[in-house]
Amino acid sequence: MSEPGAWGTDPAAAGPEGRLASGEPIGPEDDVERSLRPRRLGDFIGQDAVKQQLAIFLQAARQRGEALDHVLLAGPPGLGKTSLAGIVAEELGAGFHVTSGPVLERKGDLAAVLTALEPHDVLFIDEIHRLNRAIEEVLYPAMEDFQLDVVLGQGPSARTLRLDLPRFTLIGATTRTGLLTTPLRARFGVFHRLNYYGAGELAAIVHRSARLLGVEVDDDGAAAMAARSRGTPRIANRLLRRVRDVAQVRGAARIDRAVAEEALELLEVDALGLEELDRQILRRLAETFEGRPVGLGTLADSVGEAADTIEDVYEPYLLQEGLLKRTPRGRVATPRAFRHLGLDPPAAEQTGLF
Ligand SMILES: Nc1ncnc2c1ncn2[C@@H]1O[C@H](COP(=O)(O)OP(=O)(O)OP(=O)(O)O)[C@@H](O)[C@H]1O
Ligand SMILES: [Mg+2]
Repeated sequence: MSEPGAWGTDPAAAGPEGRLASGEPIGPEDDVERSLRPRRLGDFIGQDAVKQQLAIFLQAARQRGEALDHVLLAGPPGLGKTSLAGIVAEELGAGFHVTSGPVLERKGDLAAVLTALEPHDVLFIDEIHRLNRAIEEVLYPAMEDFQLDVVLGQGPSARTLRLDLPRFTLIGATTRTGLLTTPLRARFGVFHRLNYYGAGELAAIVHRSARLLGVEVDDDGAAAMAARSRGTPRIANRLLRRVRDVAQVRGAARIDRAVAEEALELLEVDALGLEELDRQILRRLAETFEGRPVGLGTLADSVGEAADTIEDVYEPYLLQEGLLKRTPRGRVATPRAFRHLGLDPPAAEQTGLF
């Protein structure tokens, strides 16, 4: 796991429930996803401001022969946080160690990870907002002074042993910066927020992935997939794999707009890239609740999803597309959402909102 370039393929990185420490399930699809992961900064498409800054910090750290400062990456799922962390390790020629907030249950778990680090290695903690407080407190001196306090024994005879750690770079990833404690956030020297990708960038990602998968996609086909990827590279790659299946079964030599659109139709991905659950959320808000504000918990129950998942995975894109609004009284479907569902928006006086 500490070998440069070996990240993401080590079975030791697998967590208890058959998931990678990054929270991604393990399976053949994930092997494909990992094979599509950009390895170098130059392969990473889009997020130009982030890339430019990272390139400078990386070069400066290399020139000084120092470890890179700790980096916090925030943004919705599938935008490239894990990929970027791996790229930083690769660019530094350093080892890459992957774990995640929920996997680190006991202080000893973190101590084991920290003591395995070599100088300048990158330690990636995914879902860092889900670290428990006791573990966070072990992390503070490790991040700041590169020291680890180990308690030996129990009760009155317990002693604390202070270990020196090598200088390493912690990269934390979170979908929710708001949930990070202030002392933890303050210990990161570099903070980057990843934003949803534009259509052109997503099309470039589709072309890149198609090349790696050995499938032919023309510009219109790539644009059709890009338009329905919810601004998210992971979704673009997933659509490409499904569209590839359809192209193969239809005997199409290359993916053009017609093949792409037929496949997307089959997958029930609509023109805005919304999937069944997105539409269910909007339908509940628009039809069941008739455009009135609804609390997150009630909404989550009504579609049978966890509130966290709604908030982290589904809502950000619906918000960005102006389909859903957060009001002090709850979530509401916007007039655009009503129209997207083929419904008439309610009159303003009915909801008192628009
Ligand atoms: N900028 C990019 N250029 C090319 N491919 C990308 C880019 N960003 C992400 N990808 C692709 O999208 C997939 C998902 O990216 P990644 O796993 O890094 O996202 P993430 O932000 O860590 O998601 P999560 O929060 O769910 O862990 C990768 O396998 C990679 O192929
Ligand atoms: Mg990830």
